[in-house]
Amino acid sequence: MTETAPGPSTGSDDPNLTMGIDPYERNWMRLSIALLVAFAATITVAGFSMGFAVPGADGEVDPRTVLETEPWSSPGLREISPGVYEAYVVAQTWSFNPRELEVPVGSELTIYVTSPDVQHGFSVRDTNVNMQVVPGQVSKLSYTFDEVGEFPYICNEYCGQGHAAMYGVVNVVPASAVSAGNDNDNASDSAEAQGDADGQVD
Ligand code: CUA
Repeated sequence: MTETAPGPSTGSDDPNLTMGIDPYERNWMRLSIALLVAFAATITVAGFSMGFAVPGADGEVDPRTVLETEPWSSPGLREISPGVYEAYVVAQTWSFNPRELEVPVGSELTIYVTSPDVQHGFSVRDTNVNMQVVPGQVSKLSYTFDEVGEFPYICNEYCGQGHAAMYGVVNVVPASAVSAGNDNDNASDSAEAQGDADGQVD
């Protein structure tokens, strides 16, 4: 009778100790790597083909002088071409200027917002428009309003005692009911513009 050595095998001779990876551990490693690849792909697609980006240097303003600088010195709605609008909105303690934006149904509205004082928010109900408004930065989002109705916007970033008073509304009206503010030029202008827009590929 010979006695076998009961102890563990001594280190590097044992392939299980040098090479082996537990199958579960291997699967979790694969999953982790796959997630990293998926996240990187998501950021790449969002950034390069969908236009998502953090504010760049061209979105910077000086919050101390922004209200004296065009276009922020006269905030409001501008019609760029038929059905395409831009709105410059100042979020300040404790109101939005302007408080109302009116566009015809089907319009694409690009909203630019900035703040001369503290951080605010700009969120339009029933849409995915939801921006932080940071002093010194211009926040920008586009949205196409395909339904007639009132779309209230609010400040959703606590900004002081008047926070709850910061609200306004996007009025989306039937195409035939655009108020005088938007179409006080004569009708032939817009007919011409319509023709121009039709001639463009984009
Ligand atoms: Cu501005 Cu809350």
